Amino acid sequence: MQKPVKAPVLAASALGAIAAGAAAVLCDTAPYPYALRRLLDIPLPLLTPRRLDVLLQPRPGEQVLEIGPGTGLQALHVAPQLGADGRLDVVDVQQEMLDHVMARATTRSLRNIAPHRVDATALPFADGQFDAAYLVTVLGEIPARLAALTELRRVLRPGGRLVIGEFADRHHVPLGTLVRLANDAGLHLVRRTGVPLAYYAMFTPCTQPEHLR
Ligand SMILES: C[S@@+](CC[C@H](N)C(=O)[O-])C[C@H]1O[C@@H](n2cnc3c(N)ncnc32)[C@H](O)[C@@H]1O
Repeated sequence: MQKPVKAPVLAASALGAIAAGAAAVLCDTAPYPYALRRLLDIPLPLLTPRRLDVLLQPRPGEQVLEIGPGTGLQALHVAPQLGADGRLDVVDVQQEMLDHVMARATTRSLRNIAPHRVDATALPFADGQFDAAYLVTVLGEIPARLAALTELRRVLRPGGRLVIGEFADRHHVPLGTLVRLANDAGLHLVRRTGVPLAYYAMFTPCTQPEHLR
């Protein structure tokens, strides 16, 4: 017979998980800890998946990219809108997050999500492959933000849409900073919604040749 796990052992494990989570949160370069995943299921004010639709406008048959899906709050909302002919590629540095999204997708019989464990700064996709891309409360966690935006610009088709959601957490990227970085990456601001501390901003690739920008 298996021995029951003692209460002090359980308490020690729980404390360990909380300590690991807290340490990751306090360390600026760490990605959001999987141990705190439950918090990701709570939509942030003004950054709801429905408000993301207003700018992203996902359509059936489109190929869309998400960076940093976490537990899938946005992915599980966007993927059904792409239909069986469309596809949502989700990219995350943490395998646990990708596994979590895929498990939830299976429960909902969603078959058009493809996970990739890679860094946003080195995307394994062809130039101009995507109709649209988005990332919500992710950019601030990426140390090389310009490199990530440059990669996103590269994989978007001409006229493609990039929506970035930012919230007033410790990784917050102010809109002005984001617009400057995006311009350097060859993207220009088309529209935004929300307020300075909780906004969605939509960009599209610049059409001007690089040497004239
Ligand atoms: C705060 S969570 C946001 C999750 C989800 N977008 C949401 O709003 O609920 C940030 C996510 O970005 C991922 N991430 C952090 N740095 C990354 C990077 N360099 N490349 C890809 N994903 C990254 C983390 O692993 C985590 O899943």
